[in-house]
Amino acid sequence: MGWLSRWFRQDGATSPRPVELAPLDLSAFHFDFHSHLVPGVDDGAPDLDAAMEMIDGLVGLGYLGAVTTPHIMAGTYPNDRNTLEPAFAKLREAVFNKHPQFQLALGAEYFLDASLLEKVANGEDLLAPGGRLLFELAFGAPPEDGLLREFLFEVQVRGLQPVMAHIERYPYWHGELHRFGDFAEQGVWLQVNAASIVGAYGPEVQQAAETSIERGWVSLLGTDAHGMRHIDALAASRTHAMVHQLAKSAQNPTLF
Ligand SMILES: [Fe+2]
Repeated sequence: MGWLSRWFRQDGATSPRPVELAPLDLSAFHFDFHSHLVPGVDDGAPDLDAAMEMIDGLVGLGYLGAVTTPHIMAGTYPNDRNTLEPAFAKLREAVFNKHPQFQLALGAEYFLDASLLEKVANGEDLLAPGGRLLFELAFGAPPEDGLLREFLFEVQVRGLQPVMAHIERYPYWHGELHRFGDFAEQGVWLQVNAASIVGAYGPEVQQAAETSIERGWVSLLGTDAHGMRHIDALAASRTHAMVHQLAKSAQNPTLF
């Protein structure tokens, strides 16, 4: 399996489960809302060629467009609109020349910390196309309850839609998945990575993704594309029953 060998090479993945269904036409999802396509600004596409290869892949799989969401993380990726927009403009021009029908919007994947809470509370200009604010948590330790609660309150009170990135990748909550039911109930959109569903991050992450989708908590499928391995995993996910289920039940918002 070609796509899996990329994961073995780069991420030490485990084996996926056997295929289950006929490949789904991914055009059902219309847009991808989580990706790292802007060249040279984070750990995603290193250059324009790499970004275009991923976009070629998305076009080939039937996507109409994508919100690309570079990391914004104090200290590690100190990006903001000013640092991202010039690189994004070059990407958009290249995409327009090759795939004029493919729509591209600039968002961000914000790391949740006190500085993000402050930005939201101060009403700063955030990269949130369509009012959807994508945020991620640390992988190693859960966020302080108060910080997450206050952040969600400030986001929602400003009329923004909070979107929690790759919920299945927070191992400290694998034993308490009911938390995601609570978040969904509070109006938080929960996003799962296609690569998780096919086992690229191991069986526990895969199980958390499957259970969360099965219970109807997940609003968005995302590629979280940093490289072609994520596009390949997306293609492989087309046969998975949970991707078929999400195509019926996921939110299907416009791009902006
Ligand atoms: Fe991401």
